[in-house]
Amino acid sequence: MTQKTVRDYIRTIVDFPHEGIMFRDVTTLFADPRGLRLAIDQMLDPFVGQHIDKVVGLEARGFILGGAIAHQLSVGFVPVRKKGKLPGKVISEAYTLEYGEAVVEIHDDAIQAGEKVLIVDDLLATGGTAQAGIKLVERLGGEIVGTSFVVDLPELGGRALLEGLGYSVHALCE
Ligand code: PRP
Ligand code: ADE
Repeated sequence: MTQKTVRDYIRTIVDFPHEGIMFRDVTTLFADPRGLRLAIDQMLDPFVGQHIDKVVGLEARGFILGGAIAHQLSVGFVPVRKKGKLPGKVISEAYTLEYGEAVVEIHDDAIQAGEKVLIVDDLLATGGTAQAGIKLVERLGGEIVGTSFVVDLPELGGRALLEGLGYSVHALCE
C-alpha cells in the first residue's frame, strides 16, 4: 500500500465561507500526527541550510505551521495578524483576497533590520495576504528568504504574482 501524501490529508468543503468557494481545509492534515510532521518537514525542505532569523506566520493557520517550523529551526516566530488583534505598536497593510478585503498588522519592533525571514501560511490564492505580509516585513527592514505554503491555487495567480516580484515560492500541492 502506498503512503498518503500531504494532499491526501486535505479535505474540500464546498460553498465555504461563501457560495462558489471550494474551501481547502487543512485541519484534517493538522489533526493527523503523520500528516502534520510530513507537512512541516516538506515546507522546510528547500530552506534547509539557508540562514533564517525569524519565521513570520500569517493568521490564522500560518501560526500553527509557522510555530512548528520556527521550533524546528530554533528561531523566533512572529505573527502577522488581522487588524486590531496585536497589543503593541503596529504597522498595517490593506489587501484583497479571494473572498473579501482585509488589513493585516505586525508589531513594529518584531523584526530587526537585516533579519532574514521565512513567510509561512497554509494556502496561497491571490497572493494578497502573503504580499501584505512581505510588505510589512520589508518595511521593518527584514529580508525575505522565501515563502512556504501547504496549498497553492495557481488559477488565482498568487504564485505568478510573488515570483514575478522575485520571491521564492514553495508549495506542497496544488
Ligand atoms: C486564507 C489562507 C490565507 C489566505 C490566502 O486565510 O489561510 O491566509 O486566505 O488568500 P490570498 O492568497 O488570496 O490572500 P483567510 O483570509 O481565510 O483568513 P483566516 O486564516 O484568518 O481564516
Ligand atoms: N483562502 C482563499 N481561498 C481559499 C480556499 N479556496 N480554501 C482555503 N482557504 C482559502
